[in-house]
Amino acid sequence: MAVDVILGLQWGDEGKGKIVDYLAENYDIVCRFQGGPNAGHTLKIGGRKYVLHTIPSGIFRENIINIIGNGVVLDPITMAREMDNLDKENFEYKSRLLVSQKAHLIVPTHRYLDAASEASKGSAKIGSTLKGIGPAYMDKTGRNGLRAGDILASDFESRYNAIKEKHLGLLKLYPEVDFDLEAQEHAFFESIEILRSLQLVNSEYYVNNALSNGKNILAEGAQGSMLDIDFGTYPFVTSSSTISAGVCSGLGIAPNKIREVIGIAKAYCTRVGSGPFPTELNDEMGEKLRKEGMEFGATTGRPRRCGWIDIPQLKYTIMINGVTQIIITKLDVLDAFDQISAAVSYLYDGITSEALPFDIVNKKIDPVYRHFDGWNTSLSSATTFSQLPDKAKSYIAQLEQLLETQISMVSTGPEREKLLSKK
Ligand code: GDP
Ligand code: IMO
Ligand code: MG
Repeated sequence: MAVDVILGLQWGDEGKGKIVDYLAENYDIVCRFQGGPNAGHTLKIGGRKYVLHTIPSGIFRENIINIIGNGVVLDPITMAREMDNLDKENFEYKSRLLVSQKAHLIVPTHRYLDAASEASKGSAKIGSTLKGIGPAYMDKTGRNGLRAGDILASDFESRYNAIKEKHLGLLKLYPEVDFDLEAQEHAFFESIEILRSLQLVNSEYYVNNALSNGKNILAEGAQGSMLDIDFGTYPFVTSSSTISAGVCSGLGIAPNKIREVIGIAKAYCTRVGSGPFPTELNDEMGEKLRKEGMEFGATTGRPRRCGWIDIPQLKYTIMINGVTQIIITKLDVLDAFDQISAAVSYLYDGITSEALPFDIVNKKIDPVYRHFDGWNTSLSSATTFSQLPDKAKSYIAQLEQLLETQISMVSTGPEREKLLSKK
């Protein structure tokens, strides 16, 4: 039937995993279409917390197929670790977890190169998660990569060795970094065996046949649109196409199969790693957002940088993604604020503008803020949108007006059930 997309409208960690897990029950298939284990998607179900990096967030929903698409870069080691965690939960998922034969593999020397490349940049480092994402996508576009389907070939090991030797040559260009290659290679080959036990599929046929047979698909984005390789704050970005266009190339789905593009945005804004962040708060207010929102990375544990919601930034990502509806997450984090702010335009080069400038990395941008009354009360007891305090409803209504896009739901806590539909 159709493909709906869930993706992040800011710099990642918007709460995509929680929303995918919640909405997955309305779909037959959930697919990851880009990124890799740099993602950390947190689900809170029945008092338990799960963090998924490679496995799609539909895995906890019975009977739903989960596909790791061709656009993903897959690290068998992380994948095996995630599977190990799921195995402890005593539920059946392996028959529902499919991997595209065309997904590229992250090999240990990709992570080695990531670490060495970051070390060489000094204070100009990207703040990569060091999961080998950049080097793996470089090998993909450089036409040197190994793909998941290759693990079944009889010469897999010699092809692995060839790419490893190439990487060892490149590593000579960089400063030395600590990396236990032997131990990592051992873990890699062990986890390749586990990957061999999963169904490796021609996923573009699988998803298109499913669509022809009336099935519905949910595509789960990783990272956020401001980390997109083309439209993000380059070079402080990730190496994949994180926007809705990435669904087509990352799954083999035609654009006319895409129905809803559901953009996820926090009620404020965070970023982890280096790079521009116009509304960042380097003060007590930023500290308070970090504390109330428990803003520490799900993949690396690093403290996330925090600031107010940024309307021009969101309008930009709504535009490039063709967002049809927005879900606002972490509204409850603002419970403790007397006043809430939102950037509505920028001041730079002596002018007021709503446009993100090309040289955003070097330009000093002063956000122009609009302020809203806080509601100063806990949202936790609201079980419907209409039960929210008037000031919270008013904040959402004003965001909707500023963004010129429908807000369909708001999330008021990390738990699966804390999601209120506005309709
Ligand atoms: P993702 O990468 O977009 O899936 O998001 P992360 O899992 O990295 O980060 C979102 C964090 O916020 C996780 O710890 C979630 O459990 C948590 N979270 C999600 N939605 C809400 C919400 O509405 N309120 C609160 N307080 N926490 C939330
Ligand atoms: P989810 O899916 C937040 C950031 C890193 C770094 C930059 C490049 O959980 O929202 P990379 O490892 O890709 O080379 O890092 O991108 N980054 C994320 N930030 N959430 C993520 O994923 C991220 N994945 C990468 O911090 O600044
Ligand atoms: Mg995350």
